[in-house]
Amino acid sequence: MIAQGIWAHDLGTRVVFPRTAPRFAPTIYILYARSHLTQVFSHSLSALSFLVLTQVQQHTSMALRSLVARKSLGLGFQSKAKILAVGSTAHSRGFQTFSLPDLPYDYGALEPAISGEIMQLHHQKHHQTYVTNYNKALEQLHDAIAKGDAAAVVKLQSAIKFNGGGHVNHSIFWKNLTPVGVRGGEPPHGSLGWAIDTNFGSMEALVQKINAEGAALQGSGWVWLALDKELKKLVVETTANQDPLVTKGPTLVPLLGIDVWEHAYYLQYKNVRPDYLKNIWKVINWKYASEVYEKESP
Ligand SMILES: [Fe+2]
Repeated sequence: MIAQGIWAHDLGTRVVFPRTAPRFAPTIYILYARSHLTQVFSHSLSALSFLVLTQVQQHTSMALRSLVARKSLGLGFQSKAKILAVGSTAHSRGFQTFSLPDLPYDYGALEPAISGEIMQLHHQKHHQTYVTNYNKALEQLHDAIAKGDAAAVVKLQSAIKFNGGGHVNHSIFWKNLTPVGVRGGEPPHGSLGWAIDTNFGSMEALVQKINAEGAALQGSGWVWLALDKELKKLVVETTANQDPLVTKGPTLVPLLGIDVWEHAYYLQYKNVRPDYLKNIWKVINWKYASEVYEKESP
């Protein structure tokens, strides 16, 4: 009936199922759609898109749930199925939940740039809270749509954006870091290195720009190095709170995201955010950024 576009991240979303149907079964669906699901899942959460559709025919939803279940392995998705009895008919309905991804290194592995205490709290407490609240909001959304409660659906959008954005952003952030002994801080070579020189003049100029914009960001948020696929150039962007990069443009691909929330540095750097930004470059994983760039560059 009505497609509720809740939130979309990254390169644009392609809906792979009908937005409308001639007859409506009493059921609802939350779903994720993007053209290269396998690529996304095997690569990162950097290209994650969400749509919420309401009242799609039951036979269509069954096929979609089957598709998503097959595609969701390995990305922190967990399928949660509920069996509801409606009259004498049992209807199966399901929605996707998310789980906290493991870090690819130990909590203390980024010291002295980022302390183990910060990493542990950041991952186990902050990121976990986004995941927990995101799943809670999705479940409430699922129920609100089932009840046809339009006001409740709209009310939940901010919680989905904030907590879903927190989950997406932090999932990228962990991959943007690597210990010094595991290529941490090694500048990019190849095509990304050339692109940085072309777009910013030099790596030093890029670092200076990101540090300046990150330090100037008021309150909490993120500073990004992104590929603009439409303009075919690299750009530096900032987003407030937990807004994902897609909120600045559907053609932006995040190569590097730096968390400038106080929880990312305060225990070690107190209120001196510029020192945190200065030191984080020692553990930046340019290999990961290069891989994303080479895969996504036109
Ligand atoms: Fe954070």
